[in-house]
Amino acid sequence: MARQSWGSRIGVILAVAGSAVGLGNFLRFPVQAAGNGGGAYMIPYFISLLVLGIPLMWVEWTIGRYGGLFGHGTAPGIFHSLWEKNRFIKYFGVIGIFGPLVIFIYYVYIESWLLGYAWFSLTGAYRGTDQAGLQAFLAGYQGLQPHPSFHGIGWAYLFFLITFGINMWVLSRGIVKGIEWLNLWALPLLLIFAVILTIRVLTLGAPNPAHPDWTTSAGLGFLWNPDFSALRDAKVWLAAAGQVLFTLSVGIGVILTYASYLTREKDVALSGLTAVATNEFAEVILGGSIAIPIAFAFFGPQQIVSVAKSGAFNLGFVSMPLIFQQISGGNLFAFLWFALLFLAGLTSSISLLQPAIAFMEDEFRLPRWQVGLLVGLIALAATQPVIFFLGKGVLDELDFWGGTFCLVLFAAVEVILFGWIFGIDRAWEEIHHGADLRIPKIYKFILKYVTPLFTLTILTTWFWQDGLPVILMKNVLAANKPYVFATRLGLTALFLLLCYLVHIVWKRRPAGKGRLHAA
Ligand code: ALA
Repeated sequence: MARQSWGSRIGVILAVAGSAVGLGNFLRFPVQAAGNGGGAYMIPYFISLLVLGIPLMWVEWTIGRYGGLFGHGTAPGIFHSLWEKNRFIKYFGVIGIFGPLVIFIYYVYIESWLLGYAWFSLTGAYRGTDQAGLQAFLAGYQGLQPHPSFHGIGWAYLFFLITFGINMWVLSRGIVKGIEWLNLWALPLLLIFAVILTIRVLTLGAPNPAHPDWTTSAGLGFLWNPDFSALRDAKVWLAAAGQVLFTLSVGIGVILTYASYLTREKDVALSGLTAVATNEFAEVILGGSIAIPIAFAFFGPQQIVSVAKSGAFNLGFVSMPLIFQQISGGNLFAFLWFALLFLAGLTSSISLLQPAIAFMEDEFRLPRWQVGLLVGLIALAATQPVIFFLGKGVLDELDFWGGTFCLVLFAAVEVILFGWIFGIDRAWEEIHHGADLRIPKIYKFILKYVTPLFTLTILTTWFWQDGLPVILMKNVLAANKPYVFATRLGLTALFLLLCYLVHIVWKRRPAGKGRLHAA
């Protein structure tokens, strides 16, 4: 069975950019920037982008394309092709299937709330509600509290099934007709929605007549005025580096899978950089100009701090709908906001499930419909605890392992493997094979020394600061501990199952790298 390949260059760039542009850009980024020193946060952010994000993007495009030549689309096989003598490296590669699958499990549920809220914005279901009312509406929708508009979790479940179905439908159509097709229209469309919202926000002036100084441009000032004392705080550096990985979708395991569908002659250097640039435009320019500036204009300099600190969900699902009710055409803008987030989520979530699908297709040679059914059923089953035990810490636990820990660990492994084991000279040559861009020589040094050192420093500092208390369940409510513990058991079982599958695949395979598909 021949492996699939991308239909066009713009298709693969948009698919990678679609994976990168997600909820992270429009919700996670503004909340983090506002809460971690405003403009000063951008210093560690841009440093991380230069020495971590961009190099890792090149690494993942390059090793993905390289592994694809041997018929491997996921990290176990790709890592094995890079270091064929080592028997254990393929098990490290399991993180690159496990991590994105774990993120998918909760990400797809949040994505479905966005679809629900896009619908409620059009029907006006929450119109005329104040802040407390909107909080109750969200809790009612999530099934956490009774609410007259909802019968338990029914609506949330319906929108979840629709969202899950759309994800599976796109993925079942394959690389060109599914993933590429979706990104070709959804990414430009969501960027148009974001530009419309940005223009609306920035032309709003001072919407509160009692406070003429509460303007959206003052809101931009709130976001970007630097607090340099934040730079001395290791937490801010960790937050910035973590955000760069999450937003670019690097260290997750998804970009290498997308890149494995490239043929040998296709460029990775310029394409990788273009995907980064698209994501950063969506994050820093658009993501930074919507939620925080408009919330500042309505809530003012005091309350905005608590809005930013109350987290991304509160900003997205409570503050934003509240604000939109107060501007003309508010329903339409609220719809655009949720539709934008839904599309951004969709183009990311499909990339999160693709490694599991690619693994079964490539390594077990199963037909696509069988793989879709199998992976779909496992993902569907795994999502149920997130839905039904939402208030019990399950989602946070998944986010910790999938969205934080695995990311940094995987990034460290892949960059060391590429720069040190595969060898920096071969690596440099491989990046430039078919390249439309010559990467400045300094990046050879960065790739070999700076990026590995940076990832290892993040991993250790972060482990002592945040990781250990989380692992020891220091901040988990006593009542939630059994749920968190059960989640850990489930995650361990999933990880071991994937290791076992890798074990059987390699046991059945004749020694050596596998078949070279194209030279
Ligand atoms: N990169 C994706 C996001 O930002 C996962 O949401």
